[in-house]
Amino acid sequence: MTKKWNFNTKAVHSAQTPDPETRAISEAIVPAVAYSFESAEAAAGVVNGAEEDSVYYGRYGNPTSHTVEKKIAALEGSEDALGVSSGMAAISIAMLAFLEHGDHVVVTKDVYGGTHKFLTSLAPRFGIEYSFVDCNTAGEIEKAIKPNTKALYIETPSNPSLTLVDIEAVGKIADEHNIPLIIDNTFMTPYLQRPLEIGADVVVHSATKYLNGHGDVIAGFICGDKETIDHMRQNLMGDLGQNLNAWESYMILRGLKTLGLRVERHCQNAMEIAEFLEKQPEIENVYYPGLPSHPQHELALKQMHGMGGIVSFEVKGGVEAGKQFINALELAMISFSLGDPETLVQHPASMTHSSIPEEELADFGIPKGLIRLSLGLEDAEDIIQDLQQALQTLSVKI
Ligand SMILES: Cc1ncc(COP(=O)(O)O)c(C=O)c1O
Repeated sequence: MTKKWNFNTKAVHSAQTPDPETRAISEAIVPAVAYSFESAEAAAGVVNGAEEDSVYYGRYGNPTSHTVEKKIAALEGSEDALGVSSGMAAISIAMLAFLEHGDHVVVTKDVYGGTHKFLTSLAPRFGIEYSFVDCNTAGEIEKAIKPNTKALYIETPSNPSLTLVDIEAVGKIADEHNIPLIIDNTFMTPYLQRPLEIGADVVVHSATKYLNGHGDVIAGFICGDKETIDHMRQNLMGDLGQNLNAWESYMILRGLKTLGLRVERHCQNAMEIAEFLEKQPEIENVYYPGLPSHPQHELALKQMHGMGGIVSFEVKGGVEAGKQFINALELAMISFSLGDPETLVQHPASMTHSSIPEEELADFGIPKGLIRLSLGLEDAEDIIQDLQQALQTLSVKI
């Protein structure tokens, strides 16, 4: 059946049919590492790629991972996808697929702390150069591109400041210079944003977040054309041993079936909470693309199908007041992750982005006192009540 399905139907049905032997509807977990072949020639045919979609050794993929890879490709609208052991594996493999010793990458300023750390501490050891630039200013990107620039990398909306980058505009610049545009689409998921449709070449995900959605799997995906994904599978993921295992692939397949439903709820909660926070006298600067006050609200409406589940904000009184506030929360939990059913809160400067030196935080658009809230699936009323009681403890002390 040709896949003309809408998103939620694809999330449930694409790449999955009942097992012909058992008639089981949910995917079987195949933990096997080794596979047998009828002949030496058949085994060789699988290794050299003559046989499509075949598996031969667990480090290069397994049947359960192949199913989830096909589903992710269907959702992102890519020719192929690769499941890997974490979001950071996806990011590093995607970059290393295009960057060799002596090459350079242009990166949007405001990226996940782990991406910043990979670029500033690990990549230079292998002779890879980077420039962090404001990717919303075409001139800045053009100025940063050098003869040895081999990739452009962006994250939109960014973690944690929720700054947007115009994907279509940056895609055009990447095309003009014949370099691939790689995008971290973790915050949006393909439900809310499909960068490949508007000018990106490669999409990376931390599936640890919304794609799995239950806070019990670390995984990543890379989406792109078949040739690029094959190269990543054979020459990077396999050699670095960054494969996704069968159990986690199964968990993600399970999580994906409710992706649309969950993301809708995350978005609704985030919008309600952003509007609530904006009205509180103890709060300043609420960052949420869905708010008309967000400086890139129009761009958000243009390139996103929903505004996402993350709201960032600052509490008046700076870092100390911010920490006091999050310490007083009772329902929202202080945690490093996001995209889970539980509302999670964190202080990026001292937690997820602590690898960025304090004096450089402003350059990366991260206020020191910024608080990032990942809205869960609870009832908005209960989250608001929790925020309210934490604010009350604050107003006494400000
Ligand atoms: C936007 C973004 N990209 C990538 C990652 C890295 O993902 P993982 O922890 O699965 O390696 C994270 C983790 O928080 C993230 O927030």
